Amino acid sequence: MSERILVVEDDAVIRLTLKDALQRQGYRVDLAEDAAGGLEFFRRSGYDLTLLDLRLPDMNGLEVLRALREADADALVIVMTAFPEVRTAVSCVKAGAYDYLNKPFELDDLKEAVRRALETRRLRLEVERLRISAALPEPLEGMIGASPAFMALVEITRRLATAARVPVLIHGESGTGKERVAQAIHSLSARAAGPWVTLNCSALSEGLLESEMFGHEKGAFTDAKNAKRGLLELADGGTLFLDEIGDLSLALQPKLLRALETQSFRRVGGQKELTVDVRFVAATNRDLAAMVKAGTFREDLYYRLNVGSIDMPPLRARVEDIRALAGRFLGDAARLMNQPEPVLDASACVLLEHYAWPGNVRELRNVMERALILAQGGAILPVHLAKEIVASERDYNPTPDAGNASLAEIEKRHIRCVLNACRGNKSQAARVLGITRLTLRTKIAEYGWDEFVESAPTTANR
Ligand SMILES: Nc1ncnc2c1ncn2[C@@H]1O[C@H](COP(=O)(O)OP(=O)(O)OP(=O)(O)O)[C@@H](O)[C@H]1O
Ligand SMILES: [Mg+2]
Repeated sequence: MSERILVVEDDAVIRLTLKDALQRQGYRVDLAEDAAGGLEFFRRSGYDLTLLDLRLPDMNGLEVLRALREADADALVIVMTAFPEVRTAVSCVKAGAYDYLNKPFELDDLKEAVRRALETRRLRLEVERLRISAALPEPLEGMIGASPAFMALVEITRRLATAARVPVLIHGESGTGKERVAQAIHSLSARAAGPWVTLNCSALSEGLLESEMFGHEKGAFTDAKNAKRGLLELADGGTLFLDEIGDLSLALQPKLLRALETQSFRRVGGQKELTVDVRFVAATNRDLAAMVKAGTFREDLYYRLNVGSIDMPPLRARVEDIRALAGRFLGDAARLMNQPEPVLDASACVLLEHYAWPGNVRELRNVMERALILAQGGAILPVHLAKEIVASERDYNPTPDAGNASLAEIEKRHIRCVLNACRGNKSQAARVLGITRLTLRTKIAEYGWDEFVESAPTTANR
């Protein structure tokens, strides 16, 4: 369905010119020649966008703007003013206008402003839809994503979660969500009611790590004034998460292997064999297979841990999820700061989708939190993003990791990249890609990219 625009403008020539230009773009347009008529139209049927002249015969434009926003707090309004006065523009934006145009304006500028505003509205609706869907079961314990790579991750995680005591090794770059997946494995398993215990293998010295993991008896070493239970005992009946397992020293590796194989161990300085029922989940961003070859990680431990194996996709391999993730992080941060949820402008979104995200989801979250503060309640724009994200637009390489991608995958990524770069303009994108518009439309439908599917033009307008 094409979008509906209301034009409130007392100058008949401008009014009809706008109607004509906008209808040619495929929008449905209604006209009002004064504030009273415009408000009546608006209250009766609501519009996706209102173009509002600030100088109307019967009412001050600012008042009309306020009345529109009162009727619909999300009303999207572009004001048109013949007085290129900064103050007027600022008060309009303060009163909730999305954008303003100084008369006389070029039709192209108008079309661009309209396109941008409606894109914002679509994003808002998308955020709204996400918020509604947040009440529904999320694919994986509050983790966000719908891309094929993410859904594959969900599938394997669910499957492994139900596989009782099978150890799981999670491998992936920093910030991809390894710990979240480990938690999901616990909470989706039959052990969910049991303890969830985590141990970071890189945070402690070898000696401390050993007594942390296995516990110690009184007098086991100088500082051991009392006996202490280790995390293995505390995790009995539940899950022990060993983070940064690649940093576990060669001396401790055989001790862990034995606990994995027999579910039994001794405290440091202890004689008694203790038995537990623990599921092991380990994570690392290091290449354990290479470490095995290099002799820094035991082969037997590696195979023992890697019975269930999960490879976390980096964020750049699931570009489709970026927008939803960014929206969620903005929303979360805004709520924490008691701010209204800001809009993520399409121009900023394109940059986010082009960036390589070496720090993955964590980096995206940090970037959005920072942007929220910089934007001070306004829409998130490119200026609110980190320099490297804006810079990456220029030398963006659509085929990172091309080494293991299929031709079809690279084609898909490249089409996405060009579409983004052309801000969704399909004629332009088709030209850049050297294919027909029809071919491009077929591809878009095939990939299910609904955001690029155009609304059917009404016959009267084309
Ligand atoms: N799919 C997702 N949806 C929502 N939030 C996510 C998702 N994936 C990761 N996060 C968030 O990103 C941050 C990083 O995730 P996590 O700590 O699990 O990553 P990690 O792979 O363990 O990183 P590191 O290797 O640095 O330890 C967390 O704040 C987490 O909540
Ligand atoms: Mg982690």
